[in-house]
Amino acid sequence: MANAVKSQKTAKKPARKAAKPKAKAPVVAEAAHGAAAVATQAGKTNADLLARRQAAVARGVASAAPVFAAHAENAELWDVEGRRYVDFAGGIAVLNTGHRHPKVIEAAKAQEDHYTHTSFQVVPYEPYVALAEKLNSLAPGDAPKKSLLVTTGAEAVENAVKIARAYTGRPGVIAFTGGYHGRTLLTLGMTGKISPYKKDVGPFPADIFRAPFPSARDGITVEDALTGLENLFLTDAQPDRVAAIIIEPVLGEGGYIPVPFEMLQALRAICDKHGILLISDEIQAGFARTGTWFAIEHSGVVPDLITVAKSMAGGYPIAGVIGRADVMDAMAPGGLGGTYGGNPVACAAALAAIEAIETEGLLARSTALGERFRAAFAEIGARTAPFRMWDIRGLGAMLAVEFVTDFETAKPDAALTKSVCAHALKRGLILLACGMHGNALRIMVPITASDAIIEEGLAIFEAALADAVVELSV
Ligand SMILES: Cc1ncc(COP(=O)(O)O)c(C=O)c1O
Repeated sequence: MANAVKSQKTAKKPARKAAKPKAKAPVVAEAAHGAAAVATQAGKTNADLLARRQAAVARGVASAAPVFAAHAENAELWDVEGRRYVDFAGGIAVLNTGHRHPKVIEAAKAQEDHYTHTSFQVVPYEPYVALAEKLNSLAPGDAPKKSLLVTTGAEAVENAVKIARAYTGRPGVIAFTGGYHGRTLLTLGMTGKISPYKKDVGPFPADIFRAPFPSARDGITVEDALTGLENLFLTDAQPDRVAAIIIEPVLGEGGYIPVPFEMLQALRAICDKHGILLISDEIQAGFARTGTWFAIEHSGVVPDLITVAKSMAGGYPIAGVIGRADVMDAMAPGGLGGTYGGNPVACAAALAAIEAIETEGLLARSTALGERFRAAFAEIGARTAPFRMWDIRGLGAMLAVEFVTDFETAKPDAALTKSVCAHALKRGLILLACGMHGNALRIMVPITASDAIIEEGLAIFEAALADAVVELSV
């Protein structure tokens, strides 16, 4: 602790390069995407908006930051009072290509000049077909693919389950401890964490089973997890009544824990043995976050279905299911879709975001960023919070650090994690926690962020960690 206090005193003050824009006097800030006009919202304050929000918005919708967005560019965001933040949260892993990627904005605007909605089920349009073609070409495996487009991640997961049930004629779904698949009732049933998501809103749909997630952190080996799954087949989930096993190849909300590759390979074999479909939920891990298009590619496993959303479209709401064509065609015409599913503006944005990932080398950049973060966290942990930063883990730039009260007991320290986030925000860095015990900080910074912004964010992180250690030690 003494070390931590000492390092707090010597912690370098983060460089806040951009001038704070004055109200009513828009300034121009240089961003990695290009020059951006940064306007404050004259007369608006965070406090006023917070009061209005509390009066008007349902309590169940929480916000991590008590400030309101006015403008954002790549990995920077300005609030309504003109304060600048480095954004390591990327709108919950949506902005691998950054806020307002110029190509994404240009494509969306161009689409808006033609039509914004016809409903694909009434009058179809090319951007939907083009995006499906692109997704089919990116998905791993040699089998022909087809895709379905919807609007949210939870909707994609729901539809993946529907398709799996229609194809197999079986009802069961197996998900994992700590998994997160959405907030609708079916996906909540699959989500493996009660508070705050599932609290007080059950019952959940039947025929959803939970298997143990292999977590070295919790002493659960791959062997233990597979034994748990075999036990599930003996006790609750009759294997020939199971339609699908769904897994996040890197646990997202559950703590950014990569699934060991041998576990994914074993799941593939178990699915093949019992005629069960394997669904890879790539909603948080996909589109360059881990250094590949889909995180499961690292393991060499080819899933039957993949759910996608978030960074697929650089900030526009669109999601989808990609899968083996024979599986995807199991449902009769009319069984899939929705009024807004595959909105044309969002399709155009997604095609542009995917092109940016391709042309700007963002897969390789993600791997390099992951290495930089790993090294920096190890140094910062040793320097600033010895024996509190328990684990640095992840895949590519999908990284988290976990905080504990001490290395001896390794007790999760949610209070320290929360305090780091709060101090980071005060110093100008947006951070988000995750994990079953809320004691991990995850990195979702745009992969397009410049080195300078990454280093600035890391310096603020170190200073915030030092602040938090001091705060919690008095
Ligand atoms: C792995 C995973 N699946 C599903 C979802 C649900 O997506 P949405 O919030 O768009 O419904 C999320 C959201 O965080 C997610 O991370």
